[in-house]
Amino acid sequence: MSSSIVGMAFSALVCVGLGYFFLVTRGALIANTFVPRAQDRFHVYWVYSNMGLIKFSDRKTWVAAVLLFQYDRLVDRVVSEIKRASVKGKTVLMTSCAFGDVMPKVVKTLIRGGAEHICITDLINNELIHAGKKLKDFQGKFDLAEADATCMPNEDGTVDINLIFFLFHELPDASKALAFSEAARLTAPGGKLIIAEFHRPRKRIMRMLGRLYFTVFEPFALSMWGRYDPVHCLESMGGWTCERATYFFGNFQVVTATKSA
Ligand SMILES: C[S@@+](CC[C@H](N)C(=O)[O-])C[C@H]1O[C@@H](n2cnc3c(N)ncnc32)[C@H](O)[C@@H]1O
Repeated sequence: MSSSIVGMAFSALVCVGLGYFFLVTRGALIANTFVPRAQDRFHVYWVYSNMGLIKFSDRKTWVAAVLLFQYDRLVDRVVSEIKRASVKGKTVLMTSCAFGDVMPKVVKTLIRGGAEHICITDLINNELIHAGKKLKDFQGKFDLAEADATCMPNEDGTVDINLIFFLFHELPDASKALAFSEAARLTAPGGKLIIAEFHRPRKRIMRMLGRLYFTVFEPFALSMWGRYDPVHCLESMGGWTCERATYFFGNFQVVTATKSA
């Protein structure tokens, strides 16, 4: 009797969790087609635009669950790639905010390493306000700026390291292409572009489950497995050397791309 109550409670919890996740991701995309919204942000999930939802949803366990509990491994790789790039005196950009502790860990690493200028950008002002609160221990040591990854305000070749953490899969394909060319444009010769993203899994069963997940929740993500794979995109532009580490049967990747000097 008690085990069936626990089972029912657990099932109800899973259904509520999935329902909430659907509502704030795919549900938002559906609703955005009916509610008038600026063209440049119709793809943004409510979970990143509404302050209440941002505060409620920015929990590391939830983000970790979406990334199949690989979040810490991915963040560790990003941090070690930043350290490897040696940041002393460099200009570093993080193109778009992210949930969990990736921003505090990255900013701490950059400050310790002596980065000259650190800037975090995002399309949504509420995300920047939230980021500022999360990074209050480092106040005055970094800048926040509203900017669209598809048309950045930075001059050509002025950023030494640009980190893009799970942004591309949320952009419509035309925006992905623009964001790749903007990231390439603003990176300095010899500079690094570090991209954490979904990757086409090696196992067939994982590809089937991944396809189902993306179709239901994150419809723009599937093209990351093919046409908008970061290594494919950067190498086809020419002038980039890419190193890729994959995680969890190939489901995720961290790409470190170096622009020719
Ligand atoms: C980088 S993704 C992070 C997703 C991931 N699930 C996480 O939180 O770790 C989400 C961020 O991208 C931002 N964003 C969406 N479209 C953007 C664009 N065109 N330019 C800049 N930021 C954008 C959203 O406002 C949001 O803050």
